[in-house]
Amino acid sequence: MQDNPFEYRLLAKGDRFVDRESELDTIIKTVKSGQNITIYSPRRYGKSSLILKSFERLKEDRAVVYIDFNRINDISELADSIVSDVVKNTFSSFEKGFSLIKDTLTSLRPTFTPLDDGHVKISLKIVETEKDLEKALSFPQTLAEKKDIRIVIAMHEFQRISTLNGGRLERLFRSVIQEQDRVTYIFSGSQVNMLKEIFEEGDRPFFKSTKIMKLGRIPKKPFIEYIIKNFENNGVKVDRDIIDEILRLTDGHPMRTKELCFELWNQEMSKYPSHSLEEVLHILIDNDMYLEQTWNMIKSSVHRRALEAIAYDEKPYSYETIQKYGLKGNSHVQRALKTLERQGILYENEIVDPFFREWIKRKTGSH
Ligand SMILES: Nc1ncnc2c1ncn2[C@@H]1O[C@H](COP(=O)(O)OP(=O)(O)OP(=O)(O)O)[C@@H](O)[C@H]1O
Ligand SMILES: [Mg+2]
Repeated sequence: MQDNPFEYRLLAKGDRFVDRESELDTIIKTVKSGQNITIYSPRRYGKSSLILKSFERLKEDRAVVYIDFNRINDISELADSIVSDVVKNTFSSFEKGFSLIKDTLTSLRPTFTPLDDGHVKISLKIVETEKDLEKALSFPQTLAEKKDIRIVIAMHEFQRISTLNGGRLERLFRSVIQEQDRVTYIFSGSQVNMLKEIFEEGDRPFFKSTKIMKLGRIPKKPFIEYIIKNFENNGVKVDRDIIDEILRLTDGHPMRTKELCFELWNQEMSKYPSHSLEEVLHILIDNDMYLEQTWNMIKSSVHRRALEAIAYDEKPYSYETIQKYGLKGNSHVQRALKTLERQGILYENEIVDPFFREWIKRKTGSH
């Protein structure tokens, strides 16, 4: 059987990457102008794919580095990661850069451990936390000056910085990178509330220090074109109504749209296709343990009923909805929506995951 063109679990690369033209343009222009940028969206909207796509163009004239804060648990790991990942992406081989790297890092007492992939892990000895960390944070700029290059560093799930060492690290980080004219940063994350606090609250060091990009879903038009093309290129003719229905159900949610197409493709490729789109959707929903787990995580019945109202497109603050769903009153609704947003279930008062919306509707029966 041919490769399924709608593989949805891997990052979208090459011609599997849909649209985002204006976002790419903004990222590239911003980075090239030397300004830092922050990208946020709920989970699975395509931040990592977008950043890596922008790297394909940015690496023409600068080194590109991707650091995932999910892998970082303390300050010393942050320092190691910045130094190791920058080195890995700025030298074609470690040997070539060895004396430069060693000289630059001497005061941080580095040790070098060869890795299986041919790169080297650099571990620093952080003794005086603040002073040493400052040196590690300055390393990309120092190296960029010595090598006469530019570097862009993407830091994913950056909001985790506030769990590493509270405000001190944020202040230090901000003051160090402010001096860096050869290094540009792309911050991103899916804990939108926490990122907003870091970048949009007046008393925080990063306040208004970057360009903010809110990443939304993928517009229907390019998504539909992509879906038609990928079915047709492989000799499958799918009814336009079905494709419209897919987009209606997922509203352009990148991963869920592809997941639905992925299963539909498998159907079409099977010898005896027997399931309609609706049945395919239900099979997917029934087999997705995450949906039930998410529901079980919501303990409050007011929260559950508020979600139910939203799943049915009813306005949660209206008098009728509050009566119909027993939501008690406006302030209860407000608190419910805030909590659900913090949990990543809602975003701008909509259910983030379109499959979860369908799951809720199925669970609560027809209205
Ligand atoms: N532009 C795109 N074109 C095609 N598919 C995409 C695109 N963006 C995202 N996807 C699909 O959505 C999935 C999730 O994307 P990605 O991992 O980039 O999102 P993310 O926002 O970084 O997620 P997380 O919040 O979990 O880190 C990908 O595996 C890919 O299948
Ligand atoms: Mg990601």
